[in-house]
Amino acid sequence: MKPRHFISLLDLTSDEFRTLIQRAIDLKNNRNPDFTPLKGQVLAMIFEKSSTRTRISFETGMTNFGGSAIFLSPRDTQLGRGEPIRDSAKVISSMVDAIMLRTNDHATVTEFAEHSSVPVINGLTDLLHPCQLLADMQTYFEHRGDIKGKTVTWIGDGNNMCHSYINAAIRLDFNLNIACPEGYLPNTDLVKSAGNRVKLFTTTLAASEKSDLIVTDVWASMGQEEEQKLREIAFKDFQVTQALMDAANSDALFMHCLPAHRGEEVTAEVIDGKQSVIFNEAENRLHAQKALLELLMCA
Ligand code: CP
Ligand code: NVA
Repeated sequence: MKPRHFISLLDLTSDEFRTLIQRAIDLKNNRNPDFTPLKGQVLAMIFEKSSTRTRISFETGMTNFGGSAIFLSPRDTQLGRGEPIRDSAKVISSMVDAIMLRTNDHATVTEFAEHSSVPVINGLTDLLHPCQLLADMQTYFEHRGDIKGKTVTWIGDGNNMCHSYINAAIRLDFNLNIACPEGYLPNTDLVKSAGNRVKLFTTTLAASEKSDLIVTDVWASMGQEEEQKLREIAFKDFQVTQALMDAANSDALFMHCLPAHRGEEVTAEVIDGKQSVIFNEAENRLHAQKALLELLMCA
């Protein structure tokens, strides 16, 4: 039987997504050290890029559940020396119970999944960051209840996080206003796939009006470091400021997947302010991913 993978949020149905969020909240609120459903199981974690939250949350989640995780860097494995992805997928999946990958190229994760005999989890690619959205949505539900019918505003780069917000809007049925500079818009097919749930804006203020949640991310993602200076110019009018938070609904929240650059994509006033829930959001990576590991590995 083919294993169940988590490459995109669209791999979950709307009901599964909501159930997973509730399960994450339950795991967070009712911690039980004797609950070890993954006892003896092993998660391999392959990181082509840096990580703090993703690595620690998956490793801690596996340990909490009685299992363990192995950190693998391409620098130290044969993957980095050109061993074919399909061979690596067959070999690694023959020895472990699930595999998480963070890769530069989305196609690496999809090819790996095709040849893996165990569940593959996307821990971030250039296209998507679905694990982060599990935590973001859990955080919204915890603070404000179901997000269905609410309005979320994405400010900044039309990047992997923005793409995953589009998929979340499809599955959880919320409106998504996206304001990006010209030349940095999200993938056109993804935008089209969301139909009239997604609206593109050219100014941040109009995109923020009547919003329930404002979200942003770095201007230059991992692998785009050499574009930093160019992007600082292109994105200068795409900073989340208190004026944008004030244009949104009075109970609007602010989120950022982190790491953040205060004074670039968001002011310190906003990210360290009362509406910001960034540290709940970061912690929820652990709880949401434990719910995901349970879904994929305990079935
Ligand atoms: N938000 C996030 O994925 O953080 P890391 O890069 O630290 O894993
Ligand atoms: N868009 C960012 C997200 C980091 C968690 C990146 O890809 O670097």
